[in-house]
Amino acid sequence: MKLTKKTDFLIIGSGIAGLSYALKVAGHGKVCMITKANEDESNTKYAQGGIAAVMYHPDTYDKHIEDTLIAGDGICDENIVRMVVKEAPERIAELIKWGTKFDKTASGEYDLAKEGGHSAHRILHHKDNTGFEIERALLLSAHAHPNIEILDHYFAIDILTQHHLGLEVNSRTPDIACFGAYVLNLRTNEIETILAKNTLMATGGAGNVYSTTTNPSIASGDGIAMVYRAKGKVEGMEFYQFHPTSLFNPGERPSFLISEAVRGFGGILKTIDGEEFMHKYDIRKSLAPRDIVARAIDNEIKIRGDDYVYLDCRHLEKGAFVKHFPNIYQKCLDIGIDMMKDYTPVVPAAHYLCGGIKVDKNGRSNIKQLYAVGECSSTGLHGANRLASNSLLEAIVFAHHAAADAIQKIKEDPIENFISNNPLAKKNIPNWNAEGTSYPEEMVLLTQSLREVQAIMTNYVGIVRSNIRLQRAFDRLEILYKENEALYLKTTISPKLCELRNIINVAYIIIKQARNRKESVGLHYMMADFDLKIKHLLP
Ligand code: FAD
Ligand code: SIN
Repeated sequence: MKLTKKTDFLIIGSGIAGLSYALKVAGHGKVCMITKANEDESNTKYAQGGIAAVMYHPDTYDKHIEDTLIAGDGICDENIVRMVVKEAPERIAELIKWGTKFDKTASGEYDLAKEGGHSAHRILHHKDNTGFEIERALLLSAHAHPNIEILDHYFAIDILTQHHLGLEVNSRTPDIACFGAYVLNLRTNEIETILAKNTLMATGGAGNVYSTTTNPSIASGDGIAMVYRAKGKVEGMEFYQFHPTSLFNPGERPSFLISEAVRGFGGILKTIDGEEFMHKYDIRKSLAPRDIVARAIDNEIKIRGDDYVYLDCRHLEKGAFVKHFPNIYQKCLDIGIDMMKDYTPVVPAAHYLCGGIKVDKNGRSNIKQLYAVGECSSTGLHGANRLASNSLLEAIVFAHHAAADAIQKIKEDPIENFISNNPLAKKNIPNWNAEGTSYPEEMVLLTQSLREVQAIMTNYVGIVRSNIRLQRAFDRLEILYKENEALYLKTTISPKLCELRNIINVAYIIIKQARNRKESVGLHYMMADFDLKIKHLLP
């Protein structure tokens, strides 16, 4: 194994979180960004609706704060909510400075959309592919910066802590610290070590823990699993957000999203016999917060025995609709649905992980020299349920804070300090024994296990849960965990194997934290065992 480089800032992940942090720290040292697929492949690239911010009167910070707190169902950190909402305009100005273009009205103001749970129009967007536009602009700016190196097709396997450097964490070295990461260079198939003065985890979400998700295949919870294995704190994992309206198109993975902004534009949910149903569940009807809408759809589908519900857009004005949603309109046309003439079939799909690596207001994890920003982190902003379009915002606000903190810290060299205080460590850099391993004889071992985890999570730890379901999930996952650990020890490292291991780790944490939370709150909805009535949903 090679020691490839030593850098000031190691960034794992090239979505909005990693890139905006990179652009901030790059003036203060060498930045090495690794990313496991093509550099633009990320959840960020697929974001449709946009980014929430208070831009104009009569909207106010207080309203955005209140909407976020209501969606979060009482367990947001109010100080963090205030910080994020109030800093939004400044951070958005930076995105614009870095080249992002948001749509404007004929009068030159930003064209603000509305989404579920928002009491005002406040979503800045670029048509219906806002994330693609942000990713494009940030990558362009990052490439132009001489201090930023982006290594694509580099897969982070684990972070490097004292443990890997030959020292157990003990009373003399009470704090776990991060000194970089072990990474697999997918072009050479070699494991390399990157040492860093500080490391940012920006690895995004974990939608692939479930059978149906809007997330691309990169979203396998790698960063969260790495930090958990290194004894970092992970919280809020029971709050997995299902987006109410992914396009029902069996066999397509990831599921194509029909943005909530379509409902903000006037789209109405109906059962397949054309009846509205959301008024039975919430006075905000189709624009209630996501947890409520997803549960209502799930309930209607289960009660009626249908596979989907409809989103009715036929009454909307075609010119304006197609201007705002050209990609959604075209995608549906491609599979034979004209949204202006036909009903659009939709189902909920796993979409966003509200919990993750626990961080403070500066994005610091409990592991020294390790920050986490973006969907892999848990900041306190989302509580039990994220308000739509608050996640891109969270990423840029926390990237800003983490960068400021890391720039201060970079003046010290924790690696040299650590090694000179612990001579044993020097001998051990690095020590990953990849010898004596082989490729799995049958890839089906991995693909089948992955399908099993996804089925367990979907059937037992999805939109509606119970003690019995969670116990079942736990028992079944344990078998898969043992099988996979055995395979991991005797098999040559590959992304598929590592991703499966990470998905199993993340599934385990979700189940464990779901079992610890007895009450229903936000996205964690527990029904009484054997009680098929959904209390919260009854009129
Ligand atoms: P990502 O953008 O997912 O980036 C993660 C990066 O980490 C990727 O580059 C990935 O390749 C890399 N990575 C992962 N594991 C490893 C590893 N082991 N080694 C190396 N690299 C690794 N939010 C909104 O606010 N508004 C929206 O309108 C919106 N729409 C959405 C629509 C869709 C279809 C989806 C899926 C999400 C949407 N979201 C939206 C959520 C939002 O896009 C994400 O939460 C946000 O983009 C996450 O950014 P991130 O930088 O944290 O992670
Ligand atoms: C959407 O466009 O509906 C996605 C918005 C989000 O996930 O925040």
